[in-house]
Amino acid sequence: MSQELGSIKRTHLCGKLNKANIGETIVLMGWVHRRRDLGGLIFIELRDRSGIVQVVFNPETNGNTFQLANKLRSEYVVAVRGTVEARPEENINPDFSTGEIEVYGLDIMILDSAKTTPFQIKDETDVSEEIRLKYRYLDLRRPKMQAIMGLRHKVTKITRDYLDEMGFWEIETPILTRSTPEGARDYLVPSRVNTGSFYALPQSPQIYKQLLMVAGIEKYFQIARCFRDEDLRANRQPEFTQIDIEMSFITREGLFQMVDGLMRRLFALIDVELPAEIPLMTYAEAMDRFGSDKPDLRFGLELKDISAAVKESEFKVFSGTIADGGQVKGINFKGGADTPRRTIDGYVEYVKEFGAKGLAWMTLKDGEVKSQIAKFLTDEEIEDIIKLMEGEEGDLLLFVADKPAIVADALGNLRLKIAREAGLIPKDTYKFLWVVDFPMFEYDEEEGRFVSVHHPFTAPLDEDVDLLETAPEKMRSKAYDLVLNGEELGGGSIRINNRDLQEKIFTALGIGAEEAKEKFGFMLEAFEYGTPPHGGIAFGLDRLIMILSGSNSIRDVIAFPKTQKATSLLDNAPSPVSEKQLKELGIRLI
Ligand code: AMO
Ligand code: AMP
Repeated sequence: MSQELGSIKRTHLCGKLNKANIGETIVLMGWVHRRRDLGGLIFIELRDRSGIVQVVFNPETNGNTFQLANKLRSEYVVAVRGTVEARPEENINPDFSTGEIEVYGLDIMILDSAKTTPFQIKDETDVSEEIRLKYRYLDLRRPKMQAIMGLRHKVTKITRDYLDEMGFWEIETPILTRSTPEGARDYLVPSRVNTGSFYALPQSPQIYKQLLMVAGIEKYFQIARCFRDEDLRANRQPEFTQIDIEMSFITREGLFQMVDGLMRRLFALIDVELPAEIPLMTYAEAMDRFGSDKPDLRFGLELKDISAAVKESEFKVFSGTIADGGQVKGINFKGGADTPRRTIDGYVEYVKEFGAKGLAWMTLKDGEVKSQIAKFLTDEEIEDIIKLMEGEEGDLLLFVADKPAIVADALGNLRLKIAREAGLIPKDTYKFLWVVDFPMFEYDEEEGRFVSVHHPFTAPLDEDVDLLETAPEKMRSKAYDLVLNGEELGGGSIRINNRDLQEKIFTALGIGAEEAKEKFGFMLEAFEYGTPPHGGIAFGLDRLIMILSGSNSIRDVIAFPKTQKATSLLDNAPSPVSEKQLKELGIRLI
């Protein structure tokens, strides 16, 4: 192309070309995905955001352009003028949307050359994640990653459109906020102007969105960045994004309906239809049957209580645990009787990670019961256990005796492990669930006080308010989580809109009147000027995208994510800063 780039106009996108374009002369711009020299011709796979198309250069019909094509290397950025032609029948490539055509190259302009990239730009890659994150801008060129970024854009767009239709306003809230107790650890930002004082980055816009309700906004949402200085477990990021929602004059059911509509639109993106109504399950039932507050309902393996069968047993591991207020529960791995001994030993080690002291097992095979604990149990006890477990020939029964919380954690996690390993989880199945009636408080052994299960602004169930003084541990709240396939997609609650009750809750949390006034005084005061009943929810956008895109890692759905150690391999954040910067902030390192 002899002209300046300024006069060349891109006319088409690579991935959008098809048979309808045959005969057209077009200009494409993109990256050289792959170059092959075959039978005296040069084949270039040209890639842009929309996809890949093949361009052919022939030395006989266009020698000058062929010379230029000869210079092309992977990831060169080029403009190509050419004509769209049908591919010979035998060369049709069904793997590409553009596989029925190819572009016959007339002209090339090299817009930029490229060094050899540290890894090939293609979907299947065995390069380490460290390298991918260091060269994220190259990693993001992979068509798979581009598709995820495109999906993420679509999800936020659909969310904005839907909430707008529902009358919500998108309002930004501060990133520099004040540190408040409760929740995870804050990220702090020192103030230069107010030496010795610190801002906190918001763990969520919780307080602001409630203040917006006091402000009469009625329906608020925000695609909000949240920051939590936590130890990073799988699928958690120190900064992540929420679809954050709050509404006034709303009941739990009204809010569920609104969420239902949003989920319906979002999952239509991947052709998943929601059930007529998302089922509800209480926290207590979820813990009892699945040992988890985010049960994966795609398979069975439910927990069964066998305490009744063994409470009088000579086997003290069982009966003693029950006498001490514990329980014995089991899961029935249907058809698992042939599980090799070393796999079962692996299960035993696994449950210990969750604090279980042991794991008892029983196989039902060839009409016999085999178990390491059979010798401690009477025939009647064994029979009762099998009956309670609904055990049949070929089953493997697994039991844990402990405090209810440990039994739930151990068996709940073992349930997931067995389901994963034994391939019990059906593909392309989406099981939504509302988990409701969470406990209001849990006892924090370390702090020696009650802490909020959700957050301190969550309202208790009306019928449980009286328990505040007598049995706070039994109190249930108006908190709810939306769970999908064992993942918590989002959580929220109906809030307290009464200062009196709010103060009592603070007291129960061991936050004294003085402290409450100092830390939350502005909020408590706001609540004195006419607060509408309100409630809300926040969805983990990253987790949602993970599920919608079928990704395994939260890092794959964030353009520039952090590692498990909360670092960025791309720009090496966090980094030391200069003595001068510290001095300005009045900070000395220890
Ligand atoms: P919560 O703390 O439950 O509620 O957070 C809401 C949702 O955010 C997602 N999430 C995360 N995603 C990635 N990395 C993390 N570290 C992380 N932490 C949470 C989860 C979770 O369900 N203000 C309240 C909501 C409300 O009451 O309205 C809140 O933040 O998907
Ligand atoms: P012990 O008498 O402690 O040797 O336990 C006998 C068997 O019971 C061992 O095989 C243990 O794996 C199992 N066991 C021990 N503690 C528990 C427990 N808390 N729950 C379930 N099984 C246990």
